[in-house]
Amino acid sequence: TPAQSRPRTAHRDLAGSPFLAAARGRRPARLPVWFMRQAGRSLPEYRALREGVPMLQACFDPEMIAEITIQPVRRHGVDAAIFFSDIVVPLVAAGIDVDIVPGTGPVVAEPVRDAAAARRLPELDPRRLEPVLDGTRLLVERLGQTPLIGFAGAPFTLASYLIEGGPSRTFERTKALMHSEPEVWHDLAGRLAGIAVTFLRGQVEAGADAVQLFDSWAGALTLREYREFVLPHSARVLGAVADLDVPRIHFGVGTGEILPAMREAGADVVGVDWRVPLDEAVRRLTAHGEPAPVVQGNLDPALLQASWPVIEAEVRRIAAEGRAAAGHIFNLGHGVPPGTGPEVLTRVVELVHSLEG
Ligand code: CP3
Repeated sequence: TPAQSRPRTAHRDLAGSPFLAAARGRRPARLPVWFMRQAGRSLPEYRALREGVPMLQACFDPEMIAEITIQPVRRHGVDAAIFFSDIVVPLVAAGIDVDIVPGTGPVVAEPVRDAAAARRLPELDPRRLEPVLDGTRLLVERLGQTPLIGFAGAPFTLASYLIEGGPSRTFERTKALMHSEPEVWHDLAGRLAGIAVTFLRGQVEAGADAVQLFDSWAGALTLREYREFVLPHSARVLGAVADLDVPRIHFGVGTGEILPAMREAGADVVGVDWRVPLDEAVRRLTAHGEPAPVVQGNLDPALLQASWPVIEAEVRRIAAEGRAAAGHIFNLGHGVPPGTGPEVLTRVVELVHSLEG
């Protein structure tokens, strides 16, 4: 039988967490850091554990979830763990035929491209998430004083995989559908918002201490498109976890033009990629008199391949620029590339920890 859900804080004292302090807009003694995609192929211990186990099988195995999530915490001493899963896991749990193909990403057997297909999209029965949430429950027992970040894919990014059938650079079918058949688009995005809400609420009720909504590909949209077609659905997702009282991080790549709209969707923390310096991101986020934001980011993942003096200078520049914000959580501008040397990440953590929050 699945572990019973329990009060979120039963096992943990997170009062001293620099990650949670920064996420709440405070300045902890030292700068907190974690890395998107910190759990994964950059770690030899991850590759060893995953040997012969398909990605989606690992994502429904509570012991695998817990161990893979903890690996980067153990090795690098990061200030937060991110739940090992994938944005398509709740789609799989809902019964949608999607696979994760190594080296490619999510591939959908029957792409959703018309009203009938959108209507056939199943709801997510929370009971189908139990093996995944058992992983969350194991984690909160094992993580000690390290907070756990739960996550979900935002409706636009999820829809882009369902409509295109797999990864895309141009999002042609997705944009064509949203403009040509807006009712079909809104029906589909609404259903995906519902699935994301069930996934996020499940994780927080099982013990996650913060959530990140990944709208990784929203930067492909104009501000007008984002406001009309995406913001209402993402706002519904973020709004639906507001009562759970965990910080909500909202992230995408290439989102310089839409950062204020992403904040408006209900973000407590705005994730910024490497293209916009953090002080400039703060200017854009406060251009109309808004209070200073909390930002997360934004070392260019490509520079993890550069020499150490280059990386050190970048980390120091980013930390200095982040001082314009109410709080700063150090991270990359996107995920850890699989070929990254793990020692580099450990060294970045040590350097960030030597800097003031
Ligand atoms: O460490 C973490 O950040 C937690 C785990 C995590 C994974 N996927 C594991 C994973 C998270 C948060 C995600 C989210 C995710 N998945 C996003 C949003 C974040 C982002 O990168 O923008 C997206 C767009 C996906 C879809 C997806 N899944 C892609 C593009 C890929 C890569 C395909 C490849 O092999 O290059 C995946 C697969 C995936 N998700 C892997 C991992 C560890 C690799 C699978 C493997 O090891 O075989």
